[in-house]
Amino acid sequence: MTPAASPANMIVLGIESSCDETAAALVAGGRRILSSVVASQVEVHHRYGGVVPELASRRHLEAIEPVVHQALSEAGVSIHAVQGIAATRGPGLVGSLLVGFSFAKAMAFALGVPWVGVNHLEAHVQALFLEEDPPQYPFVVLLASGGHTGLYLAASPTSLELLGQTRDDAAGEAFDKVAKMLSLGYPGGAAIDRLAREGDPARIRFTRPYLDKAGFDFSFSGLKTAVGRYLREHEGERYAPVADIAAGFQEAVVDVLLFKLMRAARAKGCARVALAGGVAANSRLRERLRAEAAQAGLQSYIPSPGLCGDNAAMVAAAGFHLLATGQRGALEDDVFSR
Ligand code: KG4
Ligand code: ZN
Repeated sequence: MTPAASPANMIVLGIESSCDETAAALVAGGRRILSSVVASQVEVHHRYGGVVPELASRRHLEAIEPVVHQALSEAGVSIHAVQGIAATRGPGLVGSLLVGFSFAKAMAFALGVPWVGVNHLEAHVQALFLEEDPPQYPFVVLLASGGHTGLYLAASPTSLELLGQTRDDAAGEAFDKVAKMLSLGYPGGAAIDRLAREGDPARIRFTRPYLDKAGFDFSFSGLKTAVGRYLREHEGERYAPVADIAAGFQEAVVDVLLFKLMRAARAKGCARVALAGGVAANSRLRERLRAEAAQAGLQSYIPSPGLCGDNAAMVAAAGFHLLATGQRGALEDDVFSR
């Protein structure tokens, strides 16, 4: 028998291993972070220019136990203080997900506490509630990460209505691919963000891939191709305006993301807009959303940069709501890639 998970301040252990971060966190009441540990594998994958799935799962296996240990010790709580466990079930790399998910299952059964599998995308949105001033429901949220880019209407902690999504590359994937073309290394989003600050966003105007302006879907592969074409056409030129290319590309992505986010808010009659996912750490996107939302009379919400990328506090927060509404994982539950 697992004890009923009910208290409003239930301590949940979150575990995240969907891609190249092994993370564990303790969160009380789905809101208060007691500890959040993220072990990045960047140094493992850097030289390959992207995540190598087989290497990622092996590294998760090595890291999972020490990372969970560290989360407990940084929170200053004993393992017996854990009242529920939440682990990312998908989407992500199957071999990587299995490490965290199986670890969570085994630990929950050993401790006799309830556990639940969490959708990684719902978890990213819950990062907003780990901040001082979280949004009230409903709000429209742009979730942009390395694997996903979509617009959602969030009506409750367990209800996300998909309004539109990318038909090809995710925004973060486009950042990473363009960074690779510019030899900025992997992962490239943060590198483009930094370099773009030294560039002129208006000097090189790349195409804005709006698709159907009335719809909420995205497409970033054409923009990536346009950057590649620009580089080929200007190959060998003495002056290589890398910072201007980075700034011009970033500006095109931000224009499209914000255009659709603001349009979705108007279409849904929603006065609150939010960002989530790794790309929400982008300084230009953050600054422009704040300005444009204020101008349109909308409230805007953005997680602090450290909570935008993959972490386990957001997984614990999402798991808290599932556990509180009685959801439980079953021994035969499996992970999913998409
Ligand atoms: O949410 P996340 O950590 O992992 C996934 O769920 O995919 O997102 C990672 C993505 C990467 O593509 C990375 O390049 C991008 O977020 N990213 C950024 C920035 N920081 C991370 N993109 C643009 N600007 C940034 N500052
Ligand atoms: Zn993510």
